[in-house]
Formats: sequence, structure tokens, C-alpha cells
Amino acid sequence: MPQIFSRTADTWFRAIALGALVVAGCFFLAAFAFARSQYWDVTARTPLQPVPFSHKHHAGELGIDCRYCHTTVETSANAGFPATHVCMTCHSQIWTNAAMLAPVRQSLAENRPIDWHRVARVPDYVYFRHDIHIAKGIACVECHGRIDRMPLTYRAKAFEMKFCLDCHRNPAPHLRPRDEVYNFDWKPPPNHVALGRMLMAEYRIKSPTQLTSCGTCHR
Ligand code: HEC
Ligand code: HEC
Ligand code: HEC
Ligand code: HEC
Ligand code: HEC
Repeated sequence: MPQIFSRTADTWFRAIALGALVVAGCFFLAAFAFARSQYWDVTARTPLQPVPFSHKHHAGELGIDCRYCHTTVETSANAGFPATHVCMTCHSQIWTNAAMLAPVRQSLAENRPIDWHRVARVPDYVYFRHDIHIAKGIACVECHGRIDRMPLTYRAKAFEMKFCLDCHRNPAPHLRPRDEVYNFDWKPPPNHVALGRMLMAEYRIKSPTQLTSCGTCHR
């Protein structure tokens, strides 16, 4: 039987097949890198919000306390989002006709909460609570970055498992006196190693073994 393909054609086929493999390989590597990247983690990205709310303006410059809007942060698992009437305590007096605030007025009129796009989130299979962290002297800035400087809110940290575990293995350097939890300009004192050790005892922080056991965050 005569050869269907010449010898050179055979070599060409091999070259093309190999080339296709290399291209496919590169494609998967790129897709993998993308999936692991911060871009995919939505850190440092600001989703389009119904109202361009600024923490820099309200929390940073006007100095409104986080708890004024995130009322349940100390008492429950969720910090919660402000009800529309909270915005209206001020915006029924100032910027009353601003187009930017139309969705706020509409939300109040229709008695329907504003549909904020979430930036900070963990998957459903992860158990997280705010109250315990605040009670044990972990500041908002540890997990949310400089919210008080954000004109539009973005996620400052990727909430990967490693992020949680790094602190749960050794919380001491992250601890501060409870009443400094909302202070974004707090600087650790020169004796911060001793302070960390003291607060570990004072707040009766659990052992790293307990805090890193799977059941703490997956239950
Ligand atoms: C005047 C009300 C107000 C104050 C004060 C305020 N926030 Fe907010 N916060 C909001 C609103 C509204 C949103 C939803 C829109 C957005 O993401 O910007 C939000 C969103 C957030 C989010 C993102 C949550 C998510 O999953 O989308 C974090 C984190 C947050 N706030 C932390 C803080 C911290 C920390 C402080 C104190 C420094 C603070 N906020 C003060 C109103 C407020
Ligand atoms: C130990 C890390 C950590 C600390 C400290 C922390 N947060 Fe959060 N925060 C998170 C995580 C994780 C989520 C996402 C929770 C989820 O998906 O259910 C979140 C979500 C939020 C949200 C969105 C609404 C909600 O309740 O899910 C707001 C608002 C918020 N945090 C505000 C605050 C404020 C204000 C403080 C400081 C008083 C604070 N956080 C301290 C980790 C933290
Ligand atoms: C304690 C009073 C107060 C509360 C509560 C408040 N604001 Fe404001 N807001 C202000 C002031 C003051 C300004 C700035 C007006 C100026 O600079 O001319 C402002 C400005 C704004 C602006 C214009 C853009 C900017 O940041 O300058 C938007 C949008 C806005 N607020 C949205 C909201 C939303 C949404 C809420 C509720 C989650 C809210 N505000 C709650 C006082 C408040
Ligand atoms: C900066 C430090 C820090 C970070 C980051 C942190 N934690 Fe914690 N976490 C603590 C401390 C301190 C405690 C309190 C331990 C205790 O009660 O003794 C705690 C307690 C908890 C508890 C309650 C444990 C119990 O049995 O009472 C859960 C659940 C938890 N963390 C989940 C998470 C998750 C999920 C993340 C990541 C999204 C996270 N934490 C990130 C410091 C941190
Ligand atoms: C301090 C909290 C915490 C503890 C303790 C913890 N996890 Fe996780 N885990 C997380 C968070 C947060 C995520 C979500 C990561 C993400 O969204 O990328 C996660 C994700 C996972 C996933 C999904 C795949 C992945 O890696 O993203 C698996 C599987 C998992 N954890 C297994 C475990 C096992 C097994 C243990 C015990 C050895 C454990 N976890 C202990 C917080 C924790």
C-alpha cells in the first residue's frame, strides 16, 4: 500500500500537533494564573453602586462612627448595611435634590432597601462572625484596610483561607485595646510585643490549636 502522506507531511503534522499542545498548555496556565490573581479576587476593584457612597467623605472626613451605619457589628455575626432612613437623617436636609441621591429618595418612598453590591464576602461554607473579633480587640482595618480613605468601597484583602489562618496561628501582634478598634490611625506602642502578650491573657484568647482547627471556620 502506498504511503498516504509523504515523510515531510508527517513531520509537519507532528510539529502542528506539538504546537497545539503548547498553545493549550499556555492557555490553561494563563487561566489558572488569572483565577489565582487579585483581579479575580475582586480586591481593589470598585463595583458600580446604585449611589456612589464615599467612606472617605462620611467616615474619614465627617468622622461618622462605623457603628452609626453598621449597627450590629458588635452584637452579631453580620455588620449589616444602613437602612435608608439613616442616610435621610442628613440627606433630608442636605443635598436634598441631588440627582446622585435619587435612588436613596426612591428607596425611602418605595420602602425598599438600596441594593448595594457586596465587596467583602466569604463563601457560604465559611463561618465568620464580627462580634467575637471586635470583642477580642481585632480592628476593622485588619480585615478591611483603610476604609476611611476609600472614595468608593473596594475589598482591600483577599479573604483566602491563608489570610484567616495567618492571624489565627498567632493573633498577639494583631491585638489592640478594645476601645481602639475603630481608630484607623492607631499605632502600636513601642512595647507592642508585651502588649500583645498581655492582651492575649486579658481577653483569654483561645490557643492556636483551637483557632486553626477546621471546625472553627467550617461547621
Ligand atoms: C454613613 C453611613 C456609613 C458609615 C459611617 C460607614 N459605612 Fe460602611 N458602608 C455604608 C454603605 C452605604 C455601604 C454599601 C456601599 C459601599 O460598599 O460603599 C457600606 C459598605 C461597607 C463595607 C463593604 C461591605 C460589602 O461587603 O460590600 C465595609 C467593609 C464597610 N462599609 C466598613 C465600614 C467601616 C470600617 C466603617 C467605619 C470606618 C464604615 N463602614 C462606616 C455606610 C457607612
Ligand atoms: C477578622 C476580620 C474582620 C474584621 C476585624 C472586621 N470584618 Fe467586616 N467582614 C469580614 C468578612 C470576612 C466579611 C464577609 C462576611 C460574609 O461574607 O458573611 C465582612 C463583611 C463586612 C460588611 C458587609 C456586611 C456584613 O455584615 O457581612 C461590613 C459592613 C463590615 N464587614 C464592616 C466591618 C466593620 C465596621 C468592622 C470593624 C468594627 C469590621 N467589619 C471588622 C471580616 C472582618
Ligand atoms: C451624618 C450625616 C450624613 C449621613 C448619615 C449620610 N450623609 Fe451623605 N453626605 C453628608 C454630607 C455632609 C455630605 C457632603 C455635602 C457637601 O460636601 O456638600 C454628604 C454627601 C453625600 C453624597 C455626595 C457625594 C459625596 O460623598 O460628597 C452622597 C452620594 C451621599 N452623601 C450618600 C449618602 C448615603 C447613601 C448615605 C446613607 C448610607 C449617607 N450619605 C448618609 C452627610 C451625611
Ligand atoms: C487579624 C486577626 C484575625 C483575622 C485576620 C481573622 N481572625 Fe478569626 N479570630 C481572631 C481572634 C483573636 C479570635 C478570638 C479567639 C477567641 O475567642 O479566643 C477569632 C475568632 C474567630 C472565630 C470564633 C472562634 C470560636 O470558636 O470562638 C471564628 C469562627 C473566626 N475567627 C473566623 C475567622 C475567619 C473565617 C477569618 C477570615 C475571613 C478570620 N477569622 C480572620 C483573629 C482573627
Ligand atoms: C480561620 C478560618 C479557617 C480555618 C481554621 C480553616 N479554614 Fe478552610 N477556608 C477558610 C476560608 C475563609 C476559605 C475560603 C477561601 C476562598 O474563598 O478562597 C476556606 C476554604 C477552604 C476549602 C476550599 C478550597 C480552598 O482552599 O479555597 C477547603 C477544602 C478548606 N477550606 C478546608 C479546610 C480544612 C481541611 C481545615 C482544617 C485543617 C480548614 N479549612 C481550616 C477559612 C478557614
